[in-house]
Amino acid sequence: MREVKISKHGGPEVLELKDFSLDNPKDNEVTIEHKAIGLNYIDTYHRSGLYPLNLPTSIGAEGAGIIKKVGTNVKEFNVGDRVSYAGTPLGAYSTHRNYPTKNLVKVPDSIDLEIAATLMTKGLTTFYLLHKTYKVSSGQTVLFHAAAGGVGQIFGQWAKTLGCTTIGTVGSDEKIQKAKTYGYDHVINYNKENFSEKVLEITDGKGVPVVYDGVGKNTFEDSLKCLCVRGIMVSFGNASGPLSPINVPKLLQPKGLYFVRPAMQQYLSSREDINEASEILFEKVLAKKIKIEIFKKYKLENIIQAHKDLESRKILGPAIIIP
Ligand SMILES: NC(=O)c1ccc[n+]([C@@H]2O[C@H](COP(=O)([O-])OP(=O)(O)OC[C@H]3O[C@@H](n4cnc5c(N)ncnc54)[C@H](OP(=O)(O)O)[C@@H]3O)[C@@H](O)[C@H]2O)c1
Repeated sequence: MREVKISKHGGPEVLELKDFSLDNPKDNEVTIEHKAIGLNYIDTYHRSGLYPLNLPTSIGAEGAGIIKKVGTNVKEFNVGDRVSYAGTPLGAYSTHRNYPTKNLVKVPDSIDLEIAATLMTKGLTTFYLLHKTYKVSSGQTVLFHAAAGGVGQIFGQWAKTLGCTTIGTVGSDEKIQKAKTYGYDHVINYNKENFSEKVLEITDGKGVPVVYDGVGKNTFEDSLKCLCVRGIMVSFGNASGPLSPINVPKLLQPKGLYFVRPAMQQYLSSREDINEASEILFEKVLAKKIKIEIFKKYKLENIIQAHKDLESRKILGPAIIIP
């Protein structure tokens, strides 16, 4: 058995693949043999220390695999079940692990486990962003940053199923077509064009009611310019760096804007929440309303390269790690 650990925060080189042996699962845990592991931008925050962890620690927040053992109190899962999960405790970058059943879901037979490993973080996040943080309505125009990325590709398709007009931003011309394929009606290369001017042009000067921003530092202030009066800024990530403290009188007050900084654990902490979100997600995937194309598969031993590629914006869509 092998797992990736970090003993200090830092660049991709702090990721170390190690042999280990696994104890039996605790009463409410199962032992999972991973078939695929989700690669997510949040993993880089855990590694770098932007989200500090107690060290040394395992790492990785999303996986899919087969149950090999069940703890004594586990009733709803059995050996042989195909399962996936997202969230803590970390440790998904591994061939095998123990995991509490709290966040675990059974994967429908017709969804491949490699696809399942792309869905739980990115898909469940999309669910709560569009249905809970701000409940979009048919006919609304929404703006999503980093539209060709992992969350971006699911978000664009999901927003279309809800009848939205979608504006996406991307960091290079090669990503424009990718974003269009995955549900964006308008795509702006924000490294070439002033995206707030373009958004106002597209919306006839009105602005959008909601911006979903996982880029953070570099897009924050211009995103506020894209919002209509009483619009809501949903800041759900920091790919370009964390936000500075917000100057409320200058930035929010003139248009009466709302600001929210959501995370999965606030929306997906109960069994009911996870079931509701994953059932809707799986339905959309099975109905092919959300199509997933795995952009790249990395071997676990190439985890350092995977993090380098993710942080240098070379990954166009969902990527997985094969243990
Ligand atoms: N709050 C939550 O619950 C939650 C859950 C899941 C994900 N997230 C957040 O959602 C965002 C997307 O996650 P993901 O895993 O799907 O990643 P991703 O979108 O595949 O990758 C991040 C993208 O951010 C863009 N970016 C802009 N400036 C960047 C910079 N300076 N350095 C690196 N990338 C930059 C890049 O796209 P371009 O080249 O097109 O700009 C890059 O491809 C992340 O911020 C993540 O933390 C939040």
